Amino acid sequence: MSELDRWQAYWSRQSVPGHREESEAHYRALAEELRLLLIGLPTGAVLEMGCGNGALYPHLGFDRAARYRGLDISASMLEVFRARHPGADIAEGSAHTYRDAGGWDVIFSNGMVQYLDAGMFRAHLANAAAMLNQGGALVMGSVLWRCMRYDLTVGDMRREGLSLPVGLAKWLKRVLWRDSLGHWHSWRGVRAQARAAGLEASFYGSMLYPYRFHAVLRKP
Ligand SMILES: C[S@@+](CC[C@H](N)C(=O)[O-])C[C@H]1O[C@@H](n2cnc3c(N)ncnc32)[C@H](O)[C@@H]1O
Repeated sequence: MSELDRWQAYWSRQSVPGHREESEAHYRALAEELRLLLIGLPTGAVLEMGCGNGALYPHLGFDRAARYRGLDISASMLEVFRARHPGADIAEGSAHTYRDAGGWDVIFSNGMVQYLDAGMFRAHLANAAAMLNQGGALVMGSVLWRCMRYDLTVGDMRREGLSLPVGLAKWLKRVLWRDSLGHWHSWRGVRAQARAAGLEASFYGSMLYPYRFHAVLRKP
């Protein structure tokens, strides 16, 4: 089963994004954090990859963009989006193959790139770089932060204590076998991939999800 098939099978059964809390108050708080990444960027034309069910769409202010397009692999998530925001331009497709005529100021995602394997991630960056306006940016929110994987699985970030053997077994399973959360990234790795695509990377730790980081990859 390909990586795309695996996650499409999962997300085609979902109707909510699976944030820590599914409430308007939490979506608003998360969007407030993510909006900091957009400061100083032109936001007239926004392409969102993995737009989900639109939980963040009004809170991010994307409903006020002059041009917006949302993309997602899950028909069930898009169905909820369409019911909530009937006027929005949304379509089914994958972030790693989508390519259009471009002219985007911001290509945005939140909690999406973890579902791309290394080849898909590379293709996503190359396509985004080609579709962005100069001065625009690929903004990848809430990327799984590799150096926090141990602390999330076994260490400081767990509320309940796990015995060391159980914790280590869980961690090894994550590292050696398929991780149930998807793919984890380092700043160094993302910076190198960004450079290869002609983009300049900046990084920010997430306040609401400390095991994740945000990356802003600008097209100079
Ligand atoms: C955790 S949800 C986040 C949704 C939304 N960005 C949010 O923050 O509320 C992840 C979304 O990414 C979508 N997704 C997963 N793989 C994708 C891919 N290859 N291309 C586009 N969307 C994808 C899923 O269908 C799901 O809707």
